[in-house]
Amino acid sequence: MALTVKQRFFLAILVLAFPLSAISGDPDILSDFVVPIGVNATLLGGNFFTYTGMRPLINSDPPTNFTVTKATMAEFPALNGQSVSYAVLEYPAGSVNPPHTHPRAAELLFLTYGILEVGFVDTTSKLFTQILQAGDIFVFPKGLVHYQFNCAESDFAVAVSAFGSAAAGTVSVPSTVFATNIDDEILAKSFKTDVQTIQKLKAGFAPKA
Ligand SMILES: *[C@@H]1O[C@H](CO)[C@@H](O)[C@H](O)[C@H]1NC(C)=O
Ligand SMILES: *[C@@H]1O[C@H](CO)[C@@H](O)[C@H](O)[C@H]1NC(C)=O
Repeated sequence: MALTVKQRFFLAILVLAFPLSAISGDPDILSDFVVPIGVNATLLGGNFFTYTGMRPLINSDPPTNFTVTKATMAEFPALNGQSVSYAVLEYPAGSVNPPHTHPRAAELLFLTYGILEVGFVDTTSKLFTQILQAGDIFVFPKGLVHYQFNCAESDFAVAVSAFGSAAAGTVSVPSTVFATNIDDEILAKSFKTDVQTIQKLKAGFAPKA
C-alpha cells in the first residue's frame, strides 16, 4: 500500500521525534563524568564517586516527623551529568508528604518498610492511588502532582526513591501557593473562596516565632 503525502509526513515526524523522546534524562555530557571546577582531576579517586551521607540513617531511630534525606547533585557532585539521584523518605505513623511535583524527573519509589498510601493526578485530573506494602515499587510520572501518606496506626514507613535526573527539583503545592506572597484576592478568586479563608491558610505557613 502506497503512503499518502500526509502519511509520509507523519512517519517522518515520528522518526524524527523518537530519538528526542528517548532523551528523557538530563542533557548528555561529552565526558565520562564531570570534574567539579577547581578540582584536580588526576587527584580524583573512589571517594568522589561515594556518598556516605545516608550512613546515619541505617542504625538511627525513626524520626518523629516526615523526613527526606537526598542524594542529588547538590549533596553528591559526582551525579552531575549522570541523570540519576536518590532520596530516602521516612514517615512516622499518620504523616504525609504533601502534594508536590518534580519538574525534571519521574520518581520510582521502592517501599522498604511499612505501608504507604500513594497517589498522583494526571493532566486530565484523573487521580491514581494505591496502598503499597513493603517490597512494592510505584512510579510517579514526571512532572505530575503526587503525595504519600503513612496510613498505619502506629508503625513508621521507609521508602527509597530514585529519580531520572541528578537535580529533579521539588515544587510543593501548599507552600508554593500559600507561602510565596501571591496576592490574597488572586488566590481567593482562584480557589473560589474569600480572602479570610486564604489568610487562614497562609497563616499555617508563616514562619514560627
Ligand atoms: C594535578 O595533580 C597532579 C598530581 O599531584 C600534578 O602533577 C598536577 O600538576 C596537578 N595539576 C594542576 C593543574 O594543578
Ligand atoms: C523532625 O524530626 C527531626 C528528627 O526527629 C528533628 O531533628 C527536627 O527538628 C524535626 N522537625 C520539625 C519541624 O519538627
